[in-house]
Amino acid sequence: MAEAATKAVGGGLRNVVAGQTALSTIDGAKGILTYRGIDIHGLAEQSTFEETVFLLHRGTLPTRAQLDAFRKELAGQRRLPDAALSILHALPKTAHPMAALRTVVSALGALDPDANDDGEAARTRKALRLTAQMATVVATIERIRNGWAPVSPDLQLGHAANFLYMLTGQRPDDEAARAMDVALVLHADHEFNASTFVARVTASTLADVHGAITAAIATLKGPLHGGANEAVMETLQQIGTSDKVDGFLKDAFAQKRKIMGFGHAVYKTEDPRATHLRRLSQKMGEKTGDARWYDLSQKVEEYVKLEKGLYCNVDFYSASLYHVMGIPTDLFTPVFAVSRVAGWTAHALEQLANNKLIRPESEYIGQTGVPYVPIDARG
Ligand SMILES: CC(C)(COP(=O)(O)OP(=O)(O)OC[C@H]1O[C@@H](n2cnc3c(N)ncnc32)[C@H](O)[C@@H]1OP(=O)(O)O)[C@@H](O)C(=O)NCCC(=O)NCCS
Repeated sequence: MAEAATKAVGGGLRNVVAGQTALSTIDGAKGILTYRGIDIHGLAEQSTFEETVFLLHRGTLPTRAQLDAFRKELAGQRRLPDAALSILHALPKTAHPMAALRTVVSALGALDPDANDDGEAARTRKALRLTAQMATVVATIERIRNGWAPVSPDLQLGHAANFLYMLTGQRPDDEAARAMDVALVLHADHEFNASTFVARVTASTLADVHGAITAAIATLKGPLHGGANEAVMETLQQIGTSDKVDGFLKDAFAQKRKIMGFGHAVYKTEDPRATHLRRLSQKMGEKTGDARWYDLSQKVEEYVKLEKGLYCNVDFYSASLYHVMGIPTDLFTPVFAVSRVAGWTAHALEQLANNKLIRPESEYIGQTGVPYVPIDARG
């Protein structure tokens, strides 16, 4: 047995460096996140989703001409093949949107014009096409399950504004479009989080890009990862009003229940993404005249920090933000995927550019030397 296998790392691979990346990095003690070395605060204040995708996929910030061309390139790939719409129509209307998303992204792999080509150029095309299409899939899931006609993408709109347009059928105002754009920038990448690591493991077997992203979507769905934003809204709705916060949380702590949207495997201080989502939640709450969810969130945040010393993470204020923007609760995690597909695909490409099959070892803790007993001799 190899030496490493006798020294199994602690649960959940915490503090294990499982590979190298030049895409993003986190300083969990200082609460710093950078994409390609650029601090997330600067990106949240000034960048757009399209620029962030360019940065992640191509390595540098684009010039104005490069960005204009890239925007057109991305927008030109938003449409879905008819067969993908048929698959969505065939799914039960009660299907969780993450289950529908996972299914359609897998199907897009078979429907893709480069389906049978996994060469470097084809992989790069598929990564970009899927990044463009993810918003269309999520919006179309919402349209079809409600019995509404899908809305064709508006190629003149930016990625975030067009996503809201396809979702609602109405062109959003600048503030709503900007709030969504910032949310997409903030969620785009986060080094070796669970779903990204899964995407890299899948890519490392030389499986196709769509397979890697399908696996990542399946992983994002869980409430300990991306599914936490949906769970946060459910918690806020269970609490209901500010006067119930203390009692609700006291009970939850007494029963050792986790409060969704708090704590983080890497950050031990404020998650820098939460800073911007808190601001946007407040702003959009005031703008829509529905500040209740922001106020309630703030009260929950104060109590959890005081009683448990836990900071909120990216999922906490994204819940109240998306809610006041009119997004249904079970669509929150798919919105995360609309952004994170940029990081997943960038990581799959990075993995394949210098690939080694990801295959760790395990520490065996079961019985040894157990004899095989023929079936008729078993008790
Ligand atoms: C994200 C998460 C899995 C990170 O976990 P981790 O670093 O492995 O930490 P653990 O789950 O081992 O928790 C360490 C301690 O903090 C407590 N804790 C962590 N997050 C908590 C939360 N959200 N609510 C209450 N207690 C929490 C644990 O109960 C544990 O306490 P203990 O030592 O007394 O048993 C965890 O914080 C969590 O489950 N959060 C809620 C889900 C969530 O918001 N996920 C999205 C992450 S971006």
